[in-house]
Amino acid sequence: MSWIRENTLNWIQFLAVKIIKSGGVPKHVAFIMDGNRRYANKKRVEKVEGHTKGFDKLAETLQWCLDLGIPEVTVYAFSIENFKRSKKEVDGLMELARQKFQRVLDEREMLMEHGVCIRVIGNLSLLPEDLIQTITKAMYITKDNNKAYLNVAFAYTSRDEITHAVKDVVEGVKAGDILPEDISEKLMSECLYTNCSPEPDLLIRTSGEVRFSDFLLWQTTCSCIYFADVLWPEFSVWDMLAAVFYYQRSSSDLETTKQEQSNNVVKHTNRVATYINKLQRKRENLSLAVVQS
Ligand code: FPP
Ligand code: MG
Repeated sequence: MSWIRENTLNWIQFLAVKIIKSGGVPKHVAFIMDGNRRYANKKRVEKVEGHTKGFDKLAETLQWCLDLGIPEVTVYAFSIENFKRSKKEVDGLMELARQKFQRVLDEREMLMEHGVCIRVIGNLSLLPEDLIQTITKAMYITKDNNKAYLNVAFAYTSRDEITHAVKDVVEGVKAGDILPEDISEKLMSECLYTNCSPEPDLLIRTSGEVRFSDFLLWQTTCSCIYFADVLWPEFSVWDMLAAVFYYQRSSSDLETTKQEQSNNVVKHTNRVATYINKLQRKRENLSLAVVQS
């Protein structure tokens, strides 16, 4: 299946989407797509089949997000912790990723038409060489699209992300590009893998588990959190609408908190802005080198 699934809504669902949409929707929604293996168990199929169904549900959910007018989505597709699972399951997930990111390259035109930019956030160096190549190419060809953004967290944990940001900051100080007194929350945010994205307004976790599992810990301090008691492959448009409705009811309180936070944010000095530009260019050049190799 492609990354974006053609419309599957019946007329009642379509109407419900229109009604919810009129109430103001989040600009960025993050998903912890949990429950694929329990789904596989329930259906008595292999675990990897549960993950494949999980991908199909992701494609369907992305179409609902486009229908709702949600321009940015971030999904937790593979945690660094997931490397500890059986070799068979990890290999199966890597193969699924290989196929799906290759599909981005094969269906380039369709993604360009929708204006979808795909970014993969995580510690890509932990992945097999050929997958790094395919992922980097997929990001490269869609990088200038700006109608919708899909961030796929792969080989990701927040603690790893924050550790890398700290290392970048320390290197900047050692090289004399920035000074210790330049270190601020804003600088740290700019050094994270998610530096191109606004913070999620809504985080949805499926499967009834009530925890963050090391996902976007830095970025979700002001996010509305919604736990859905349904396995990810069974997530329906009604679950999606219920989550957005929950967000709408709590968004005014969250807006106040966000406003208070943004009042405390310091402005970057020229020195810090130059360092951040340098870091971005370094990351872009690394990607370009992979694409050209
Ligand atoms: C969590 O359910 C799900 C995962 C670890 C993998 C999620 C991956 C997908 C939905 C496919 C996405 C693929 C690409 C290429 C973007 P679980 O395995 O923890 O299930 P459980 O909670 O029932 O054990
Ligand atoms: Mg799980």
